[in-house]
Amino acid sequence: MTGISVAFGGVSALSDVSLTVEPGQVHGLIGPNGAGKTTLFNVACGLVRPDEGRIVWNGSELRRLRPSRLTRLGISRTLQGVGLFRGLTVLENVMVGAHRHAKAGFFSALFAVPTSDKDDARLRARAMTALEELDATGYATRYPDSLPYPVQKRVALARALVADPELLLLDEPASGLGEDEMHELGDLIRTLSGRMSVLLVEHHMDLVMRVCDRITVLDSGEQIAAGTPAEVQANPAVTEAYLGDEVDVATDAAALAAADGREG
Ligand SMILES: Nc1ncnc2c1ncn2[C@@H]1O[C@H](COP(=O)(O)OP(=O)(O)O)[C@@H](O)[C@H]1O
Ligand SMILES: [Mg+2]
Repeated sequence: MTGISVAFGGVSALSDVSLTVEPGQVHGLIGPNGAGKTTLFNVACGLVRPDEGRIVWNGSELRRLRPSRLTRLGISRTLQGVGLFRGLTVLENVMVGAHRHAKAGFFSALFAVPTSDKDDARLRARAMTALEELDATGYATRYPDSLPYPVQKRVALARALVADPELLLLDEPASGLGEDEMHELGDLIRTLSGRMSVLLVEHHMDLVMRVCDRITVLDSGEQIAAGTPAEVQANPAVTEAYLGDEVDVATDAAALAAADGREG
């Protein structure tokens, strides 16, 4: 993404932001609340059309990126929060994510139309494999509302993975997770980067610093830093931007100290 600018009703949310997720890398996008992270994420998903700038994917410019075309382009995403279909089981929710590879199966799953049993069986198998990777096969027949929040988040991630994307977009995947779950999520993201690129929007600094190859920092819609985790951490502009966000900084500093204690 190059030179992305977005304004909402005349108020600038992003101003001339550029970011490239390199193949096989985990790219972190951080910044205080209201920095424009979700807006940039939504530009990458086709949910927000930028006023200026270009989005290039696999060598060609995406002029009219629409969310419905994302999966076919090899891009999957999870949104801030969970966003599962309440009326579908866990397995069905994950099957919905697979429509890049499915033909009739997707619709038969949703509407119980008896179409091709073979497609349906293949789709089910793919969905179960994705659930297995997230340690969630045991929840396949449950409905999302009956599950703890962290499990719902895992199901949402399984739904993004079932399409076997080349690029995975994650908006605050660690929100609402405990320390151990966050650590597991970090390990999972590192594993996934072996077969896909990841754009990770997060405000948990310790997670971002641990799993990202490169990091872009936003503040008030402006790109204030970019580089490796070490470079970003050493950048005074970043520390300054986070001073307005004292609660988060305190929490993350405590988490970092705890993590250091464990590892050291
Ligand atoms: N749909 C919208 N309409 C109007 N203003 C918005 C909208 N989405 C975001 N904003 C504004 O854009 C700025 C960036 O928000 P956001 O991208 O959600 O930040 P972040 O995810 O970093 O917390 C904020 O000032 C927010 O109020
Ligand atoms: Mg956000």
